[in-house]
Amino acid sequence: MDFKEYVRNIPDFPEKGVYFKDITPLLQDAHALSAAKEALLKMLGNQKIDKVVGMESRGFFFAPMLAVDLGAGFVPVRKPGKLPFDKIRETYTLEYGEDVLEIHSDAISKGDKVLVHDDVLATGGTASAVCKLIERLGGEVVQCNFLLELQFLKGHEKLKGYTIASLMKF
Ligand code: PRP
Ligand code: MG
Repeated sequence: MDFKEYVRNIPDFPEKGVYFKDITPLLQDAHALSAAKEALLKMLGNQKIDKVVGMESRGFFFAPMLAVDLGAGFVPVRKPGKLPFDKIRETYTLEYGEDVLEIHSDAISKGDKVLVHDDVLATGGTASAVCKLIERLGGEVVQCNFLLELQFLKGHEKLKGYTIASLMKF
C-alpha cells in the first residue's frame, strides 16, 4: 500500500511558510489505518517489547494499538502539568524557544525494552527528549518508529545511536 496517498499537504498550517502533513485521511480509512499499524509492527520485527511509549498528542493515535499487538504496556509522555503522579521532565529546544515533556516515574522499570512511537520525526527534538526520559528511568530504547519522517530537518542526526524506522519519508 502506498501510504503517501493518504497524507494530505496543507500549505501555511499552523503558520505561514509551513507545509503541514495531515495524516487524518490515513486515520479515517479503515484499511489504511489497519495496514499502517501492521507495517509499523513489521518494521520492528520479532523483538521483545515491554512498553510502548507514545508522545502527546499525535503519538497517541498508534502507540496503544502497537502495545496491544505486542503484548506490551502503553506509557504516555505528556506536555507539562498533565500527569498527576510523581514524574520527571526533559526540556528540549524548538525552532523558537523551549518545550517540556514529562513521564511518570513508575512508568518504566529498570531493564524494560521500550519502543518509542510518534507520528512525525522532524528535527528529532521531541523523540530525543523522550529517549532521555526512558533512559533516566532505566529503560532501553529498542527502536523509535514514526509514520513519517521529514528528512530535510535531519532528525536522524539528533537520534544518532538509536534505531529509527519510518513508514514514509518526505
Ligand atoms: C509534532 C509531531 C511530533 C513532533 C516532531 O508534535 O507530532 O511529535 O512535532 O517534531 P520534532 O521532531 O521537531 O520534535 P507537536 O509538538 O506539534 O504537537 P502534537 O503532537 O500535540 O500535535
Ligand atoms: Mg507530536
